[in-house]
Amino acid sequence: MTKRVAILISGGGSNMVSLVDSMTGDHPARACLVVANAADAGGLAKAQARGVQTAVVDHRPFGKDRASFENALHASLVMAKPDIICLAGFMRILTPDFITMWEGRMLNIHPSLLPLYKGLHTHARALDAGDAQHGCTVHEVTAELDGGPILGQARVDIASDDTPDTLAAKVLPLEHQLYPAVLRRFATGDRSRIDL
Ligand code: GAR
Repeated sequence: MTKRVAILISGGGSNMVSLVDSMTGDHPARACLVVANAADAGGLAKAQARGVQTAVVDHRPFGKDRASFENALHASLVMAKPDIICLAGFMRILTPDFITMWEGRMLNIHPSLLPLYKGLHTHARALDAGDAQHGCTVHEVTAELDGGPILGQARVDIASDDTPDTLAAKVLPLEHQLYPAVLRRFATGDRSRIDL
């Protein structure tokens, strides 16, 4: 049976677009919902233009009350009955309580070669460390931030004149290849790792 995929975004949603656009033809999954945590997330219009249902669960009215924000997010997801949730540039940290409810069904893309550089500013940190290579990782989401089982990685050489911006511009197209490739495999129940 075709799998239903919900995608969570916070910004422009280029990874979301690559996922939605990949789910055509004989692909085992289809997008059922795109949720943003801010009404001005640029990805919302891109999802709507592709005929995907969208929702906004704004985190700001909830202040520091993460549990209530996550209850609202959970309610919006439950209505769409997703089999898989893809975090795609979703910049809110989720609590273990929320993650437990979707564990084994939730993926994330992170712009580093995990376990290196969990968290933010990954491109600058790879440059500061003098690394020869950088890249991105798709992993299952567990309670440990950016720490779940790795399902795929794509890597690129770092040039001596790279800056955080040029490196980000090199990694993003890799993200757009890697995430759809991993999702397609994951949707068939195959958790074997992909390296690009
Ligand atoms: C992507 O580079 C993604 O890997 C990163 O945010 C960007 C979102 O871009 N995610 C994280 O840093 C998660 N910790 P997009 O909105 O164009 O997909």
